[in-house]
Amino acid sequence: MQTKLLKIDRNEQDAADLSEACELLRKGELVAFPTETVYGLGGNACDATASARIYAAKGRPSDNPLIVHIADKKDLSVVGCDVSDGAKALADKFWPGPLTIIVKKSEIIPKETTGGLNTVAVRMPSDRIANRLIAESGLFIAAPSANASGRPSTTRAEHCMEDLNGKVSMVIDGGAVQIGLESTIVDMSTDKPLILRPGYITLEMLKEIIPDISYDPAVIAKVKNENVVAKAPGMKYRHYAPKGEMTIYEGPVDLVINKINEEVAKKQAEGKKVAVLATEESKDFYKADVVKSLGRRTNEAEIAAHLFDVLRSFDEVEADYIYGECFSVNGIGQAIMNRLMKAAGYHIIPLK
Ligand code: TXA
Ligand code: MG
Repeated sequence: MQTKLLKIDRNEQDAADLSEACELLRKGELVAFPTETVYGLGGNACDATASARIYAAKGRPSDNPLIVHIADKKDLSVVGCDVSDGAKALADKFWPGPLTIIVKKSEIIPKETTGGLNTVAVRMPSDRIANRLIAESGLFIAAPSANASGRPSTTRAEHCMEDLNGKVSMVIDGGAVQIGLESTIVDMSTDKPLILRPGYITLEMLKEIIPDISYDPAVIAKVKNENVVAKAPGMKYRHYAPKGEMTIYEGPVDLVINKINEEVAKKQAEGKKVAVLATEESKDFYKADVVKSLGRRTNEAEIAAHLFDVLRSFDEVEADYIYGECFSVNGIGQAIMNRLMKAAGYHIIPLK
């Protein structure tokens, strides 16, 4: 299959012609598109065949449900049913935006889209291209992150092409995404509201609307504990992982820098290629084959926006080992650490 690339200039996005993309989606084909969080791999959410194609293109296990994207808040009650007041209040406060709400699914969403579950994850993105694509196609669009299963999510169209060229009909290139981490997921389908995946919308922000919301214990686990089963099926899979073996060090920055430099020297002596995941403040203190800064430690949004891009760049240079620093778990830091720990396969070492 030939994958068509449609480039859209953000300054003229309102005038961009999305009719071919919409037509492809209506025919059951797949189109990757930008959202404010990460790129999505879109297909018609009401078409079981389109959903099957999404799983095949990503190489994703078919028990891992897709997020259904809508362009109008009212449609939460069309793709979902028995929607609670709490779920509606969250939609009112945070949509359009980087929040996914799980509710009971309605008849129009086939089980192929929800990985066999009776619930459906729903999101109304704020990105203008995403919003127009959903509205103008007249569809609800099922879209997981537009990466090959197991690899870091995609924050630029070039990444989508790396993973999906020849497997989807079109990639819409809208440039680098704004946030860079996937949406926060909250489960509002039961009496106990839970955060299944941390993201840009933080626990503190959600508590203002739903005071008794809490994290699914699997989200904040520091070790991969088999007794804590993640409620979002996707969170149990190896994820976001670069190809090199990754280790995170936790502790005072000076200790971390010394320890990482020691490990780098050891691995280099064995002839291995070593990369370091650093910050603007620390990058000049490392001696490794590749040192990449995520941004300023004081600016968590900047760190979040660069994380997947930098993890992917370590694959390009074929790093055998990757060493990284820890971040605080306040606010969006919880989401950054959640993705970092998964990327490192929970290989996190405390230093004192
Ligand atoms: O920001 C995002 O959420 C992006 C953009 C494209 O919208 N999408 C995204 O989708 O990250 P995906 O498929 O990579 O991650 C969806 C997560 C998976 O971990 C999946 O298991 C979980 O949501 N999920 C989906 N439906 C669910 C459901 N009914 N119950 C529990 N977890 C669900
Ligand atoms: Mg994903």
